[in-house]
Order: sequence, then structure tokens, then C-alpha cells
Amino acid sequence: MRLKDRVAIITGAGQGIGRAYAFAFAREGAQVVVADLNEAKAKAVAEEVVAAGGRAIAVTVDVSDRHSVQAMVDATVTAFGTVHVLVNNAAVFATLTMKPFEEISVEEWDRVLAVNSRGTFLCCQAVAPVMRANKYGRIVNISSSVVQTGRAHYAHYVASKGAVWALTHALATELGTDGITVNSISPHGIVTEVPRGTITDDQWAGILADQALKRKGEVSDMVGATLFLASDDSKYMTGQTLGVDAGLRYT
Ligand SMILES: NC(=O)c1ccc[n+]([C@@H]2O[C@H](COP(=O)([O-])OP(=O)(O)OC[C@H]3O[C@@H](n4cnc5c(N)ncnc54)[C@H](O)[C@@H]3O)[C@@H](O)[C@H]2O)c1
Repeated sequence: MRLKDRVAIITGAGQGIGRAYAFAFAREGAQVVVADLNEAKAKAVAEEVVAAGGRAIAVTVDVSDRHSVQAMVDATVTAFGTVHVLVNNAAVFATLTMKPFEEISVEEWDRVLAVNSRGTFLCCQAVAPVMRANKYGRIVNISSSVVQTGRAHYAHYVASKGAVWALTHALATELGTDGITVNSISPHGIVTEVPRGTITDDQWAGILADQALKRKGEVSDMVGATLFLASDDSKYMTGQTLGVDAGLRYT
């Protein structure tokens, strides 16, 4: 019960890795806010968590919108009294269209950065007053290994996750005075229940060749590191980025 009675907002928890966090956090005793743009999926996950004996509510949110994000935090405080943990997991990811950077439109660039980068910023900003008042907080930002490796035809996504990484360092310095830690995770190669067209079979072969561990990741592979950063097991760590990446070679 590493998150016993903690209140945890997980954005993008309607599917994929975020969904796995919702179940894992609830199993560890947290009161979970399943926050997602997709209302039906958020509700389904919250219902499943409750059916499994956990505590959860669903909140529909667009993390790129300041008012929507504030409403998410308000709904959390109304339901559970406060916020202890924020996992900034929502992203334009599985639905992303890859293309040479010369062909990425301003609108596509802006949308990816609005959700992935600004969304992380806005969620941190909205929980900060609550966490500062508590003199306690755990913020876990989800970045990506592609920040270090780069990846062709992914410029908008890579840049958006680079901002998440950098923001982690910046906010750690500002929020540490109030006992709030801000760390990030760089996942790599995690297969979820959601099909995505951004990695072909040939590319998988190349990716596995670059990994020390020769297998694809599963959502359960993400849970341990995220729980660690969301709990007091990491209480003397801030401004750090953990690679959950099967030992990916970066050079
Ligand atoms: N799966 C991987 O291999 C991998 C690798 C590196 C990083 N990541 C990161 O991990 C996180 C989860 O990955 P995933 O595979 O589960 O992604 P996913 O695309 O399957 O899920 C993203 C979730 O975010 C939600 N979302 C999208 N826009 C939103 C918005 N504006 N407001 C609120 N919610 C919104 C979606 O509805 C969806 O439920 C993402 O941040 C992703 O970039 C994943």
C-alpha cells in the first residue's frame, strides 16, 4: 500500500499505459482520478477500478485547455479533498501521424505541443497551489526515449517530449521549497492494447537490436518506476529522469 489514501490524478488514463497506472495506483491504496479527453473510456476505466475494489472517479479533461485543467483539479478536490500525486501521461501519441518534418503543418505542430508540452505545464500549474498548501506533492511527467535518440518523421512529438523533460528540471527547482518532487520517465517501446501505425515490423527488429533486453515492453513494465516516483520511496529525488527503456543504446 505505497499510495495508501493518496489522491492521484492520472491524465490520459482512459487507455494504454495510463490505464495500467490507474489499476496499479488503486491497488496501492490511492484514490484515483482517471482523467482523459475520451469521456467514455475514462468512465469505463474508473468503473473497472471500482469493480476491482479500488477507489476512482472519471473526469473528462482536455489538458491543453487551462479552464478544463482547472475544472479537473476542482473536481478532484471536491471528490477526494486534495491532490497528492499528478502523473502527466496524456499525450497525442497513438494517433500521431508521422511525416518528414518539412511536411508537418503549423497546425499539427501546435496541436502536439499544445497537448504534450503545454498540457503538462498547465496540469502542474493547476495542482501547484493545492500541493504547496499541503507542503507535499509528487509530480511524474512522462517524456520519451526519443528525446535522446531522435526519430525520423517524429519531429513534433520529439520536440514536445523534450519540453516535458526540460520542464521537469525547471519545476523541480521551483517546487522543491514546498516539498514537491518533480521527476520524469522516458519510456521506450511499450506495446499496449491500442494498435498504432508508427512502428513497422522491420523497425521493431532494428529497435530490439538496439536494446539490451531483447523484447518489446508491456504496460506492466511501466508501473514500477512510476509508482516509485509517485510514492515516498523516491522522497529524496527530484528533477530526475528515469529511462524505462530495456537498456536502449543511445549512441
Ligand atoms: N507506448 C510507448 O511505447 C511510449 C513510449 C514513449 C513514451 N510514451 C508516452 O507514454 C504515455 C502513454 O502512452 P500510451 O501508449 O498509453 O499512449 P496513448 O496514445 O495510447 O494514450 C494517450 C491517452 O491520452 C489521452 N489524451 C490525448 N489527448 C488528450 C488531451 N488533450 N487531454 C486529455 N487526454 C488526452 C488519449 O485519449 C489517450 O487515452 C504518453 O505520454 C506517451 O507519449 C509511450
